[in-house]
Formats: sequence, C-alpha cells, structure tokens
Amino acid sequence: MENKQIVITEFGEPEVLAIQSSEIPTPQRGEVLVKVYFAGVNPIDVKTRAGLGWAAQQNRDKLPWTPGYDISGKVVGLGDGVKLLVEGDTVAGFIGFPLQGGGYSQYVCVPEEALSLVPDAVTFEAAAVLPLAGQTAAQAINKAGVQVGERVLILGGAGGVGHLAVQLAVAAKAEVYTTCSGANLDYLATLGAHAVNYEFAPVSERLTDIDVLIDLVGGEAALDALKCLKDGARVVTVPTITADMICEKASMLGFEAKGMLVDPDPEQLNTMLYMVSVGLLKTEIQQIFPYTQVIDAHRQVETGHTRGKVILDMQC
Ligand SMILES: NC(=O)c1ccc[n+]([C@@H]2O[C@H](COP(=O)([O-])OP(=O)(O)OC[C@H]3O[C@@H](n4cnc5c(N)ncnc54)[C@H](OP(=O)(O)O)[C@@H]3O)[C@@H](O)[C@H]2O)c1
Repeated sequence: MENKQIVITEFGEPEVLAIQSSEIPTPQRGEVLVKVYFAGVNPIDVKTRAGLGWAAQQNRDKLPWTPGYDISGKVVGLGDGVKLLVEGDTVAGFIGFPLQGGGYSQYVCVPEEALSLVPDAVTFEAAAVLPLAGQTAAQAINKAGVQVGERVLILGGAGGVGHLAVQLAVAAKAEVYTTCSGANLDYLATLGAHAVNYEFAPVSERLTDIDVLIDLVGGEAALDALKCLKDGARVVTVPTITADMICEKASMLGFEAKGMLVDPDPEQLNTMLYMVSVGLLKTEIQQIFPYTQVIDAHRQVETGHTRGKVILDMQC
C-alpha cells in the first residue's frame, strides 16, 4: 500500500500542486496513524501555495511540502505509549499548524492529544469542516467577549469561518448582523442572522450602534464597517494581512481592537463536534473535490466566494 499526498513543489499558481506517492508512515511514541477520509481546504493553504505569508516563508527551503491542517478519518495504527485512542476510532483534528501542515495525505501520523473523537452522529465530511474554521470562529467570539443581547456584526458570514461564527454568536444570544452578497442572503437568514447585502450599499449606510465587530474580510470592507460601531465597541479582525492597519484605525477612533492567530485546541473541537451531533451547529459544504482535483479545489477557494467550506475526499 502506498500513501498518496499532495505536495507543493514550488510556490505559484494552483498547477504547482502535485500528487506524490510515498510509504505509509510509522507512528512514533504517542502518535497514531490516521487514514484520512477528508481534508479541509482553507484560505491559508491557498496563500501558502502562492508563496505568501509566514508559513510560506518558513517552508521556503523545505519543499516539497504537503499543505492541510484539517483532517477527519480513522485510527489505523498506534505508536508506543498511546493511551486514549484505539484502532478503529473516528477522529478529527487541527494538525501541524502553522508550519508542518500535512493534512492533504491519505495517511498521516498525529500525536494522539491533537485529535478529537468524532461522535457517531457526525459525518466524516462535517468533522473535516470544523477544525481550523470552527476554532477561528469560536476564538474570535471569545476574544471579543460577546455578551447576551449585544449587537454583533460579522463581516463575511457566508464563508468557512463566517457560517460557524454566525451560529456561535446566535447561540450566545447576541443580536447578529452579517454581510454577504445577494446570493447568500437567504442562507444567512436561515442561520438566524440579519443579513446585509454588501453589493447593494456599504454596510455603514445600513447599520449603526454595533457593540462588537468580528471582521472576516479585512481591507476596505473592515474600514467601512468601523463607521457602524458605537462608542467603546470592540473589534476583532481575523485576516492577518490587514490586521495592523485596521487595528490602528480602530484604535484612533477609540475602539478596542485586536488581531488574532487561531490556536489549535482539541477541547474546543470536542465542544463543536458535540454541538453538531445534537443539531446546535450546522456545517455547510459548498463542494467536495476528489483529491485528484485539488487544483480545482484551490481555484474555488481562491474566488473568495465559497459558501461554507471546500473539502477534499482523500480516499476516492
Ligand atoms: N488569523 C487567523 O488565525 C485566521 C484563521 C482563519 C481564517 N483567517 C482569514 O480569515 C478570512 C476568512 O476565512 P474563511 O475561511 O472564512 O474564508 P472563505 O471561506 O474563503 O470566505 C469566503 C466568504 O467570504 C465572503 N465575502 C467575500 N467578500 C466579501 C465582502 N466584501 N463582504 C462580505 N463577505 C465577503 C463570501 O461571501 P459572498 O460570496 O456572499 O461574497 C464567501 O462566503 C480569510 O482571510 C482567512 O485567511 C485567519
């Protein structure tokens, strides 16, 4: 048996993604071997492949490199000293972040404490949606300290992070507003948000008195959204590329503003898997691509208009 992996041989357009065969790795002490069923595709994968950002800088001399931080699959091998997991367990994880990656593989070795058990009621597909995007959503909401009854504006509510952030903010009993294109208005209303079409007019012409801004879009859209905030409002801006600029502007206007870098936390993933299992959280998948079509998957994420997530079927 062999292990098919997707590798970046050089930075560039999606066509630099290639399929490579290697031996199935052997789990080291404390690690399990996971047969990966689905791997999530995130914007950071696309940016790193293009040679942009910190993960690309750090991996410049380590090519070929396998992207991917989100996996769901089954435990098929155990290293020495593994205490919690057994062969046959269904698991999901936010792995190798930010430098190692490795999720776009058919088999990968992972420290057991980095994995969460997936409840029976959660599909492999849904489990692959949650790790990076779900934890980013949860950590952004925690960082902003969202309180019951607050007016929360989430920019980019239809995306991978956004659709989960909207639901978590609704579950926290906030009054949730979000921005999207016309195509996603109805979808976001079904999640319990007041959806505002950014194509129609800037959000600053539509909303006032916002207590908390969760920015998942960055740039001009975020600068415009600062005009919706009330005195003393809090801002968490998630896209790293424009975070300094937005925090500086927000601070000048008297708001409390922070950027963030998501931090893998298996306990938090356990909570979200539980929420999915009991119907409190719904995962949205725009498209599942066979791993052999990873180039198309990257092109889709690169559009910036994916609803929910794109995931790769690693065993097709
Ligand atoms: N700092 C961190 O640790 C961290 C972690 C995760 C993600 N991120 C960053 O956070 C951002 C969001 O990530 P993601 O995974 O959610 O991305 P994504 O899934 O690619 O987001 C796509 C969504 O963005 C929406 N969108 C595009 N332009 C918009 C605009 N002007 N106004 C409102 N919505 C707009 C689209 O909705 P429409 O089609 O309706 O326009 C689409 O549904 C990315 O920049 C990502 O790199 C950072």
